[in-house]
Amino acid sequence: MIRLQTATEMREWSQLQHASGKRIGFVPTMGFLHEGHLTLVDIAAEQSDLVVVSIFVNPTQFGPNEDFDKYPRDMEGDLAKLEARGVVAVYLPEISSMYPDGYATYVAVERLGDHLCGASRPNHFRGVTTVVTKLFHAVHPDVAVFGQKDAQQAAIIKRMTIDLDFGTEIILGPILREKDGLAMSSRNVRLSDVHRAQAPALQRGLKSAWKLYNAGVRSATDLKREVETTLKQDAPDGRVDYIEIVDLDQLQPVATIDVPALLAIAVFFGDVRLIDNVELV
Ligand code: PAF
Repeated sequence: MIRLQTATEMREWSQLQHASGKRIGFVPTMGFLHEGHLTLVDIAAEQSDLVVVSIFVNPTQFGPNEDFDKYPRDMEGDLAKLEARGVVAVYLPEISSMYPDGYATYVAVERLGDHLCGASRPNHFRGVTTVVTKLFHAVHPDVAVFGQKDAQQAAIIKRMTIDLDFGTEIILGPILREKDGLAMSSRNVRLSDVHRAQAPALQRGLKSAWKLYNAGVRSATDLKREVETTLKQDAPDGRVDYIEIVDLDQLQPVATIDVPALLAIAVFFGDVRLIDNVELV
C-alpha cells in the first residue's frame, strides 16, 4: 500500500493509474476507522479497479468549541486495517499543505446546509465541501463513497459534484450499527460507560417513529414527538440538538410527509455529539 502525502504526489499517482486505464474508487475519511468505513472501502472496490482512502482530520469543518483536538486518532491501526482490506493507496496530507499560510478559498453549497447539522454547526459544511473539493482534485476519483449516516453531508457533496461538473460518481454506503443498534462512529469511543449505554436510544427513537410512519402517520410533529419521548425515557442524559424531518431533495423542513423525507437527529452526551437518521419513503 503506497502512502502519498502531497496533492502533487497524489495527482501524479492517479494520472498514471488513469493512463493505464484503471478506474479509481475513493473513500475520504478522518481516520479512527471502524467497520462502517471499511464497508465503504468494500463498496468502492466493487465499483473500481483501485481504491484510494484519505485520512485527514479536517480543521475547517470543526467549530471553535468543537472536538477537533479530541477527535480520536490511530494512524498505524488505520493503515493496518486498510492494507488488510486491499486498499492500494492512502492519501495522508498534512494540515500545513492543505491550508498553507494565506489560504483564502472556500466552496459553499447553498440551501442544503440551512437545517439539521448545518443549523447547529455554522461553517461545518463549508469546511466539508472545501476539503472534499481539494481531495477530489488530488485523487481524481471516478467514484467516491460516503456513508448514509452523514446523510446531509452526502446530499451536499452530491449537489456540489453535479453543480461544479466534477465528473465523479457519488455512491452511498449503509449505516453500520453495533449489536445494540448504535450507529458506528469514530466518536463512540469518547462516550462514558453510562452514556454509551444510553446512546442506542437514538436508533430506538427513529425505529418507533418509522413504525408510526409505516402505520400511516404523516404528521412531522407526531413523528418527532415519538423520537423525543423515546429519548427522554431511554437517554435521560442526552441533550437533543435537533430532531427534524426534511424533504430528501432540498433538505427543507416538512410539516406533512407527502414527499420522500429524512428523519434526522443529533444528540449530545456530554460534549460528544451523535447523529443518526432514517429515510421515510
Ligand atoms: O465524513 C467524514 O469523515 C468527513 O466529513 C470527510 C468527508 C472525510 C471530510 O473531511
